[in-house]
Amino acid sequence: MTKRIAVVAGDGIGPEVIDAGMRILDKIDADLAFTYFGWNADEYLRTGISMPPGAMDDIRHNYDAVYLGAFGDPRVPDMKHAADILLGMRFQLDLYVNYRPVKLLNENLSPLKGKGMKDIDLVIFRENTEGAYVGMGGNFKKGTAEEIAVQEDVSTRKGVERIIRHAFEFARQTGRKSVCMSDKNNVMRFGGDLWLRTFEEVAAEYKDIEHFHMFVDALTMQMVRAPEMFDVIVTNNMFGDIVTDLGAALQGGLGVAASGNIHPGRVSLFEPIHGSAPKYAGKDIANPIGAILTAAMMLEYLGFNDQAARIERAVIAAIDAGETTSDLGGSLGTKAAGEAILRRL
Ligand code: IPM
Ligand code: MN
Repeated sequence: MTKRIAVVAGDGIGPEVIDAGMRILDKIDADLAFTYFGWNADEYLRTGISMPPGAMDDIRHNYDAVYLGAFGDPRVPDMKHAADILLGMRFQLDLYVNYRPVKLLNENLSPLKGKGMKDIDLVIFRENTEGAYVGMGGNFKKGTAEEIAVQEDVSTRKGVERIIRHAFEFARQTGRKSVCMSDKNNVMRFGGDLWLRTFEEVAAEYKDIEHFHMFVDALTMQMVRAPEMFDVIVTNNMFGDIVTDLGAALQGGLGVAASGNIHPGRVSLFEPIHGSAPKYAGKDIANPIGAILTAAMMLEYLGFNDQAARIERAVIAAIDAGETTSDLGGSLGTKAAGEAILRRL
């Protein structure tokens, strides 16, 4: 059956890296149909609309996946369109799993002294539909000396349980040894208590998988000091946002990091972790690997496992040959770096 993919290139370097990813997807042998959507800052500034009415339902009912570049434009300082589209899809499509693997693809890309490919290979699952991202809160006496701002952090039993369960299920299915749950329950006691109780209860159903808890401040330290101690990490939305940037740095930088926003069995959204990097836009210098590995992740989600593995091997071969953009030490532009991978497919 044909898999239907909505392509949203977005802003900044988004169009260039998605173009590189599309060349790979066009070449790969998989039954895919693409529809392009031009939602971005230009459109938003022209029309005042982030996504036309009915678009979210169209995505929900008529697509298997969304392949997204990046959002963010200096002309939209409040990131309104980005929030409407990216966070809008995460929330309205209930994409509760933010899947962010951290895998070093070449020994030379390690930023850590003495740590290599066997050490840096972990997966982070970030809760993607609640926490500090729900936008609950308000202010009082704004603009005065007595101003108060309240920003809530929401955890539900259902939301916490499903992401923790997903982490254990993933560990079991991929032969990973352990799951680490990370939060800050020594300070955020109410949410932390819910997370920890749920973690222990779900862990009891997965006796074949080890489990341990770590405060998120300690986690950031250990990810740098001893990344080999982690297999699967599960954490909330905000901490997950932060530690996955650290994770990206461990694997060679934001330029190579891929991510999935997933509701298992439903339409899901795949995007490189890097942002729109407006100052690099249109200059043919952005690294296309993040977008290309994101395409591979999407293919895997859609059941094209061999094709995904082939793309990953082609990426590794291009990196090994030094045929990369400058962030990885090479001298190629976005297009040529994409071609170097395409040739190896
Ligand atoms: C990410 C990004 C987003 C987030 C921004 C762009 C809203 O940093 O996907 O990690 O905070 O989730
Ligand atoms: Mn982020």
